[in-house]
Amino acid sequence: MTTTPVVHTSAPAGVLPGAPDGAADDSLSGLWPASARPGPEGDVAVGGVSLTEAADRFGTPLYVLDEGEVRRRCRTYRAAFPPAEADVVYAAKAFLCRAVVRWVREEGLGLDVCSAGELLLAVGAGFPAERIVLHGNAKSPEDLRTAVRLGVGRIVVDSTSEIARLAALVPLGSRQPIMVRVVPGISAGGHAAVRTGTDDQKFGLSLTDGSAQHAIDRVLGQPRLELVGLHCHIGSQITAVKPYVAAVRRMVGLLARVREQHGIALPQLDIGGGHGIAYRPGEPVLDVPALAARVRAELVDGCTRAGLPVPRLTVEPGRALIGPAGVAVYRVLAVKRTGTRTFVAVDGGMSDNPRPALYGVRYAPRLVGRDSTAPDRVVTVVGRHCEAGDVLADGVELPGDVRPGDLLAVPAAGAYHLSMASGYNLVGRPPVVSVGDGTARLLVRRESLDDMQRRDVGA
Ligand code: LLP
Repeated sequence: MTTTPVVHTSAPAGVLPGAPDGAADDSLSGLWPASARPGPEGDVAVGGVSLTEAADRFGTPLYVLDEGEVRRRCRTYRAAFPPAEADVVYAAKAFLCRAVVRWVREEGLGLDVCSAGELLLAVGAGFPAERIVLHGNAKSPEDLRTAVRLGVGRIVVDSTSEIARLAALVPLGSRQPIMVRVVPGISAGGHAAVRTGTDDQKFGLSLTDGSAQHAIDRVLGQPRLELVGLHCHIGSQITAVKPYVAAVRRMVGLLARVREQHGIALPQLDIGGGHGIAYRPGEPVLDVPALAARVRAELVDGCTRAGLPVPRLTVEPGRALIGPAGVAVYRVLAVKRTGTRTFVAVDGGMSDNPRPALYGVRYAPRLVGRDSTAPDRVVTVVGRHCEAGDVLADGVELPGDVRPGDLLAVPAAGAYHLSMASGYNLVGRPPVVSVGDGTARLLVRRESLDDMQRRDVGA
């Protein structure tokens, strides 16, 4: 099936609701953190911190992360998926640093990691290994060794060959809890590159060709592995509830078959993440409370019909927890008018945010730090990198007198920007600053030319 998104606009009532005490400016609702407020002279404050001052203090490009917004989103998820019946696991690939590890731990979430690097950072920052889930379609020996050594709570098996490799690493006398990643045959997601619910892509084990059932047999034959449940992740940037409900139905069908064939009722079901957010005004977002209610209803109904106990549910949101909490701040370096277009070039681009180039996504930048009475002009905001495809925003309206030295802020910048940042053109990756209660705190420092040169040990 394909997704026909049920459209909720970017600021729907009851869906991760906006400013608790009323944002004074409609243009800052929806896409921006709830704490965003207009300031004097065109400034915007996030978490009580002026973006203009933050840009002066930390330089640009700069990524600002609103700690309160991340925590509020964690709490919304905990309320929708209560701890008595579900685990909410933050997908670290969206963005990870030590402070985020602490926020997520304090909010009672688990953590999904997909490499020894993410795992070691999390455990080094005090995250309990038993609350960690390890993913990966091709886990390296080091990934598996590190996970077993640290005692991660669950390892999600993604290929048959991984089963014996993993079992061989588990010490005699202990059992590693694992799940099997199943491809349920549901197509959903914002772009072909992030659709993982059907058989024509690299993740998981197919339900339709029997690979999932075969992997389950193999796992059950390994005394050092304990099969605790099934996993699926149908895709990312999904804005409709329906595909999740369909996936649950198929997964319950498989749970029933496992019970028939092996006589065991698996105690857990993990339905992955992929919950969509808005990047531009009016774009749809996934309604999280509705998702929770409809998934729960389907799970309870399906299990009752099949005579199965209802398994404990896990969800793995990444983007929806951290994306809207981030704001990228750039300085304009050049403005160029060609015959038909006006290009506004900023001091970052595809090295700190590859998403426009990879998925054709467009953003909604805003001038900050200066009042302008000039009429708006339609412009194209581009990065500084050596590719014509380095475009952050197309056909957006900015004040017609936008000029070098101005600051542009881009909301919804917290997920899959810096975690996918590159060293392209040796520009260096931007710093990350957390904001809250009027205070800015450096979390990750800017990558310097010196950092980059130190890695280059040849010649
Ligand atoms: N669980 C698993 C097994 C995943 O593979 C992913 C994302 C998630 C959870 C979290 O998905 P989220 O809730 O953040 O959508 N770079 C792309 C997104 C790739 C997602 C990869 N897997 C982007 O920038 O849109």
